Amino acid sequence: MERSLVLVKPDGVRRGLTGEVIRRIEAKGYTLVRLELREATPELLAEHYAEHQGKPFYEPLVEFMLSGPVAAMVVEGERCVEGFRSLAGATDPTKAAPGTIRGDLGRDWGLAVQQNIVHGSDSPESAEREIGIWFPA
Ligand code: CMP
Repeated sequence: MERSLVLVKPDGVRRGLTGEVIRRIEAKGYTLVRLELREATPELLAEHYAEHQGKPFYEPLVEFMLSGPVAAMVVEGERCVEGFRSLAGATDPTKAAPGTIRGDLGRDWGLAVQQNIVHGSDSPESAEREIGIWFPA
């Protein structure tokens, strides 16, 4: 069965949206197999966001991800990687379609980084890599 790593980012946790994100995941029929409220560390984020190192939004992204707790979860279900990305909507919350988490609940705050409530793995391979980072055996 496919798995995805989902994070409710610090903006989502601060705004009390963790339950709403979980509700949408479960309503879709996916199963939560791990769930933990975590403080990220610079080392963990360097691994998680390795592909973004050097991009203009990397430093603000790390600072944002360290600004409060993150709800980290492993979600399981048929094609749940693609499915959760559909639930999340486009990265830019202003462009995200209504009906999606970011489209319904997110907005552009005019900051250097998109504070877009959730992260979801972008492929089954990334999911296994990211699950190993956030939930080492
Ligand atoms: P995420 O899916 O966690 O992956 C990288 C994050 O960087 C992304 O969500 C956004 O929070 C942020 N991000 C991606 N692209 C941009 C961008 N062009 N400008 C600002 N922030 C971005």
